[in-house]
Amino acid sequence: MNIETLNEIANRMVQDSKGILAMDESHGTCKKRFDSLNIAVTEENRRSYRDMLITADSLNNYISGAILFDETIKQKTSKGISFSEHLESIGIIPGIKVDAGAKPFSCHENEKITEGLDGLSERMEEYKKLGAKFAKWRAVITIGNKMPSMACMIANSHALARYASICQEYDIVPIVEPEVLMDGEHDIKRCFEVTNEMQNILFENLDKLDVVNSGIILKPNMVTSGSLCKEQSTPDEIAELTVKCLSNNVPKEVPGIAFLSGGQSDQDASNNLNNINKINTNPWKITFSYGRALQLEAMKKWGGDNSNNIEAQKIIGKRALLNSLAANGRYESSMENE
Ligand code: 13P
Repeated sequence: MNIETLNEIANRMVQDSKGILAMDESHGTCKKRFDSLNIAVTEENRRSYRDMLITADSLNNYISGAILFDETIKQKTSKGISFSEHLESIGIIPGIKVDAGAKPFSCHENEKITEGLDGLSERMEEYKKLGAKFAKWRAVITIGNKMPSMACMIANSHALARYASICQEYDIVPIVEPEVLMDGEHDIKRCFEVTNEMQNILFENLDKLDVVNSGIILKPNMVTSGSLCKEQSTPDEIAELTVKCLSNNVPKEVPGIAFLSGGQSDQDASNNLNNINKINTNPWKITFSYGRALQLEAMKKWGGDNSNNIEAQKIIGKRALLNSLAANGRYESSMENE
C-alpha cells in the first residue's frame, strides 16, 4: 500500500468542484431503466449508451471520475479504444464497482447485506490491469418498522471495511458507500438518527481494520425525509442535518465526500448539494457522485437511438455543469432554464 498514491488519487477525484459520474448500473438495474423507456436490453445498447455518455463534449470540465461496471470496463468506444483508456485520455479517472449486490440478510427480514468479498483480491488485480484507479462498494440500509437492525449496520460496515482494506492493498481508492434509503414514511429526524449511527459504526469499523482515512472517499446519502413522509423536509433542514451528521462522524483526513442522489429529482440533488456546500466549514471537499440525477434525462433523450447522441450529450453536459457549480455553492435554480 502506498498512502501517497491513494491520497493523490482521492484528491484528484474531488478536485476543483468536479464530481464523479456513477455509470456502474448492474445488468438488473440497467434493464429496469431501459425497460421503462422501451429501450432494447442488449449488450450493444448498454455499450453505445455508455459510449455516448463518456464522449460528451466538455464532460471532463466537470467530471473527475467515472464508475464503470464489470462489463463496461472491458468494452470499447465506437472508435475502438477501451473505455478506461478513453477516460484517461480526457483526464477522467476510471473506477469500478466491485460489490456483487445487496442480498437478503440472514435472519433479518427485509434487510440486505452486500456481498462480493470472496475472490475480491484477484478481481482487484484484474481491474487494476484494466485501468481502474478507484472502486465502489454500496451497502443498503432500510428504515422501517424495527429497521435497521444493529446487526445489519454492523455486518455491512464490516464488509465495507474489509473491501476498503483490500482496495488499499492494491493502491485503489475505495469509495465507501453506506446508503440509507429514502424509501418510507419516516421523517428527516429519523433519517438523521439512522444515518448518524450508520456512519458512526462505519468509521469505527474502518478504523479497526486499519483503513487509511486519507485514502478513501465517502459516498453517503443526504439526510432527508422519506419519500412517502407527509411532511417533506426543507432544503435548509436537509443541508443543516446533513452537515451535522458528517461533522459528527467523518474524520478530517478524509479528502472528500461525494453524495449519491438516491432518487432525488435532478433539481433537488443540485440544489441540496449547493446548500450543503454553502454552510460546510469542514476541510473535506463535498461533491456529487450521482447516477440517476446526472443521467436519466440524457437516457430518455437517447432512447436507444444513436442519432440522438448529440442532443443527449448536451443534457448530460448541462447536468454535470450545474452539479459542478453546486459543488462550489454557485448553483441557482434559474440556471435550469438557461
Ligand atoms: P444514484 O445517484 O442514482 O443514487 O446512484 C448512485 C450510485 O452509485 C448508487 O450506488
